[in-house]
Amino acid sequence: MANSSRAPGRSRRLRAALVVSAAVGLLATAGAVVLPGSASAASTLGASAAERGRYFGTAVAVSRLNDSAYTTILNREFNQVTAENEMKIDALQPNQGQFNYGNADRLVQHARSQNMLVRGHTLAWHSQQPGWMQNMSGTTLRNAMLNHVTQVATHFRGQIEWWDVVNEAFADGGSGARRDSNLQRTGNDWIEAAFRAARQADPNADLCYNDYNIDNWNDAKTQAVYRMVQDFKSRGVPIDCVGLQSHFTGGSNYPSNYRTTLSSFAALGVDVHITELDIRNAPTDAYRNVVNDCLAVARCKGITVWGIRDSDSWRSSENPLLFNGSGQKKPAYDAVLTALNNGTPPPTGNPTTPPPTGNPTTPPPGGGCTATVTPGQVWGDRYNTSVTVSGASTWSVVVAITPPQRISTTWSGSPTWDSSGNVMTMRSNGSGNTFGFTTMMNGNSSARPQIRSCTAG
Ligand code: XIL
Repeated sequence: MANSSRAPGRSRRLRAALVVSAAVGLLATAGAVVLPGSASAASTLGASAAERGRYFGTAVAVSRLNDSAYTTILNREFNQVTAENEMKIDALQPNQGQFNYGNADRLVQHARSQNMLVRGHTLAWHSQQPGWMQNMSGTTLRNAMLNHVTQVATHFRGQIEWWDVVNEAFADGGSGARRDSNLQRTGNDWIEAAFRAARQADPNADLCYNDYNIDNWNDAKTQAVYRMVQDFKSRGVPIDCVGLQSHFTGGSNYPSNYRTTLSSFAALGVDVHITELDIRNAPTDAYRNVVNDCLAVARCKGITVWGIRDSDSWRSSENPLLFNGSGQKKPAYDAVLTALNNGTPPPTGNPTTPPPTGNPTTPPPGGGCTATVTPGQVWGDRYNTSVTVSGASTWSVVVAITPPQRISTTWSGSPTWDSSGNVMTMRSNGSGNTFGFTTMMNGNSSARPQIRSCTAG
């Protein structure tokens, strides 16, 4: 089990920085507690997901960051990004030993400036290998793969929330076998070797196995991946999460047992992520169902769509995304946002547990306003808090949390952090007088945030 041990503090800066900057209506009523089905009206995907302790992300093509129509939607709607191609092996190590981080770093910088979480994609894969790697085999390839994992995970250490360590290693169809590839031919243990190398290089990133056609619980491929994860957990191979790509097409539709698949993986003790969602012709029902299924599983951490506008999609002729080529919201967007806003909380996280109240009201130390804490929803691993300011319309509130607890998401304010990551200064940003945040317990379920000051202006 030693190999699954890890540093308790996860990638603190980005965890602490996930911010929903758009105006959020959820907490417009002073003192409102986030309740299942309560009338909430977050106006962006990221804001609404954050209120439920989730992220809503998108794949980003770095070249499109120069397109202001694209970045306007990106920055407004999403609080997580995955590089569509720029962190793949051929992009990062085009020649052996020569690493090219420029485009990937640019995406990470953009994400940091916008307080978005970054999913790293992908350290080891049979596809999009550079030519030099495609021509390798045996021990030489194994070592080159492990060196790539180590170098890349080290380079991005502290900046990546989740790594897709291994992508698409299982065969389609009914065999339940591994996919044949040059990596597979180096030995069946190549996957766990990659995970161990990744953990060593970046102990603070969550490590995921990612694949497609593992959505239907009855499929042999799904069952095979499930057994691998079960085996890894039982042997202490460091794995934290499973990513379901969920590219739904005519050949691989949204399955009615999708929620069973999510909850079954989660029951193994890993988080689940929907990592590359797109659905042919963007039917509202299927998009809505995916959101509802994720919200119903406490360990479903978020949803990433594989592109912003249909014209950005790798399957653009299928119009599978939430925005049309002109950047307008499609019916599927409305279905997703509504499902998020109406989303019931995860059933397994005892959301009705009354949270300790901390210090509900802190008198301002001469700051000209008062900040009142209202405890919000509690899950097994995290809880929400809202803070309502009275006595001023523009303000800054200093909130301290107790490590190893960490604030993972915020809404309806503009936060900055001290160097420890434990003290947040939240400033009004025009979203009203109530802001909120989600705190990860990280093993401490009793501590609650303390208001240090409320300063007007
Ligand atoms: C795709 C990209 O979207 C394309 O731009 C590229 O040409 C091929 O790869 N599964 C994955 C993603 O894990 O990396 C793939 O992305 C889509 C399928």
